[in-house]
Amino acid sequence: MDILDNLHVSKGAFGDVAAIGHGYITFPKLKGPLSTRMMFNGKEKIVWSINDYLGLATHPEVVKADAEAGQKYSMAFPMGSRIMSGHQDEHEQLEQQLADFVGKESAILFNFGYPGVFSSIDAILGRRDVVIYDEECHACIIDGVRLHLGKRMAFKHNDIDHLEKQLQKAEKIAAETGGGILVISEGVFSMRGDQGRLKEIVDLKSKYSFRLFVDDAHGFGVLGKTGAGCGEEQGCQDGIDFYFATFAKSMASIGAFLAAKDHVVKFLYYNARSQVFAKSLPMVLTLGAMKRLEILKKHPELKDKMWENAKKLRDGLAARGLSVAGGESPITPIYLHGSLEEAKNVLLDIRETHNIFCSGVIYPVVPKDVILFRLVPTARHTEADINETLDAFEQVSNKLKAGYYKSVNLMPQGV
Ligand SMILES: Cc1ncc(COP(=O)(O)O)c(C=O)c1O
Repeated sequence: MDILDNLHVSKGAFGDVAAIGHGYITFPKLKGPLSTRMMFNGKEKIVWSINDYLGLATHPEVVKADAEAGQKYSMAFPMGSRIMSGHQDEHEQLEQQLADFVGKESAILFNFGYPGVFSSIDAILGRRDVVIYDEECHACIIDGVRLHLGKRMAFKHNDIDHLEKQLQKAEKIAAETGGGILVISEGVFSMRGDQGRLKEIVDLKSKYSFRLFVDDAHGFGVLGKTGAGCGEEQGCQDGIDFYFATFAKSMASIGAFLAAKDHVVKFLYYNARSQVFAKSLPMVLTLGAMKRLEILKKHPELKDKMWENAKKLRDGLAARGLSVAGGESPITPIYLHGSLEEAKNVLLDIRETHNIFCSGVIYPVVPKDVILFRLVPTARHTEADINETLDAFEQVSNKLKAGYYKSVNLMPQGV
């Protein structure tokens, strides 16, 4: 068998969608500048699929800081991995600022969240340890768990009773192997927008001996009184042993960090393979993250505005009879019911007739008859963005109930 014969777009996890909608559903080209209104296929769309929660992507001070750092350092500096030649004072300064902000002793930077998460998990766990993770965790966590050579178990999404059963099993195994137990959850689960039940997980520490890893990609900057994330929001930050967040969401950049006890961070400095064996975070991104953190701390009104918009959107959808979940994070999931064909047509109608660009999620991510639309409100969305979107969803929902999408073909020409 030739390996290349197996590598066609119609295969793999996204095969079906890629085969029908490459360039439209998958790999669409939203033309910049980043805004709540952007161009797609030559027409302006209201955009609800960008995690620029606080609107920092286009904040004038952020844009200025990025440009000045780019002018001074280019994307090249520094060169080499931090362990060899790419280490700078600014990396350490940013790490301490992040650690202080989330209430931990120290922090380590990563170039991206994805490899940051999986290589942290890989470094933390030894083959005698047992890992227990929420079954709906992000792919980067699943990949980290896959690297683990010892015992791994999932628990049902946010099901604390099931987690407790798994902990009981894990304790028996760990007693035999002489290892420890790591529980992994997320701060905010990005599909449904619900928070991990972290407070309840931390409470289990009084009965079981384990450490907790939380990927707070969607909570950092968004949740908690100061924006320090899910632990601050739920009042259990001290119980999170490994606090992870990416710069790719509320910070509108690239990079990530893990905050923990000082000796743990020092260990990761030397053992998180995705950083040890990779070029360090460029100065442009390091200084850019410092500026973003400064604004995030100085301007809580950005977070307040985002929450105000999220509430208007959610309340408006509910008032129009739509099945809308969430409320624990700005991520707003709208649930409709229909076949896969109907799901495709609703997405097309929303995008082509109503000029709204948002992500639609179908089977196998959700059950077969469910169509999930996921809207991400930000501080920058306007009253007009929200009202037009509410009207659009009311109309498509009524058309879906009336059976309109069963037999139409709304795919635009040339797609
Ligand atoms: C929960 C979660 N973890 C990690 C990541 C990866 O972050 P990054 O884009 O910095 O690699 C994402 C981004 O999609 C995410 O949603």
